[in-house]
Amino acid sequence: MTKPIRKAVFPVAGLGTRFLPATKAVPKELLPVVDRPLIQYAVDEAREAGIEQMIFVTGRGKGAIEDYFDIAYEAEATQRERGKDLSALDGTRLEPGNAVFIRQQEPLGLGHAIWCARTIVGDEPFAILLPDEFMKGARGNGCMKQMVDAYERVGGNLVCALEIPMEDTPNYGVIAPGARDGALTQVTGLVEKPALGTAPSNLIVPGRYILQPDVMHILETQEKGAGGEIQLTDAMAALIGRQPFHGVTFDGRRFDCGSKAGYIEANLALALERPDLKDHIRAFAQEELAR
Ligand code: G1P
Repeated sequence: MTKPIRKAVFPVAGLGTRFLPATKAVPKELLPVVDRPLIQYAVDEAREAGIEQMIFVTGRGKGAIEDYFDIAYEAEATQRERGKDLSALDGTRLEPGNAVFIRQQEPLGLGHAIWCARTIVGDEPFAILLPDEFMKGARGNGCMKQMVDAYERVGGNLVCALEIPMEDTPNYGVIAPGARDGALTQVTGLVEKPALGTAPSNLIVPGRYILQPDVMHILETQEKGAGGEIQLTDAMAALIGRQPFHGVTFDGRRFDCGSKAGYIEANLALALERPDLKDHIRAFAQEELAR
């Protein structure tokens, strides 16, 4: 029997410099895809996978995320008085105890951000979702749900695994793959941001993880790695061979909303699916491309 995954960590301390000036006063995680902030999609994805407690590792200037998941008393009261529908706010109010905010005080890397959550995670397996990776699955079967289903079969540690063009591998954590069985691939090695031409494969980790709590002990003394940062990838690599470690191929679409192109693609793709927008946006896009 595997222990259930009840907690998810969302590292949201990053400065979002690639989206300046938009992110000068607004956390990048609150940038909307159509009308919901990026972080909301990640929280929905975790909740759909049965996860109850959301742990946000934040930093200075990120206070708006905490307000976002609270009750917006004035706005809600006004809307109610006006007889307006409040369903747009569904899923935005996390109950007390189910939203935990911790600060990463120094930008020492993703591994360090995760380590900041160690006392809240405690001694149980947990999920990690990087909100700027927008993973769009079929309704009710998002990326984390698919990973939790796989976890219930094989236990241990899992990362999402995604094939990308080889030349893009220097930007990511890359998997050295072993045997493949359906959507599951054995992970025999992990390298963070390999130099061009040195990646062990074109299979990357697009920001979704289920890890055993042991990774926190490794992070405790993890040396700096790629980019002079404490890397989660390096700590995970130390678990390989000691515990089961698999990659899960996601059945769905991935948008890298950490890049401007990916963010715009996500907006377009979602708008083209929305009953209230799709006809208008399709017609507009066609006209625009014909200009
Ligand atoms: C981080 C991780 C990397 C992962 C990537 C996914 O990198 O360190 O392993 O592949 O997220 O987006 P970052 O984008 O923070 O440089």
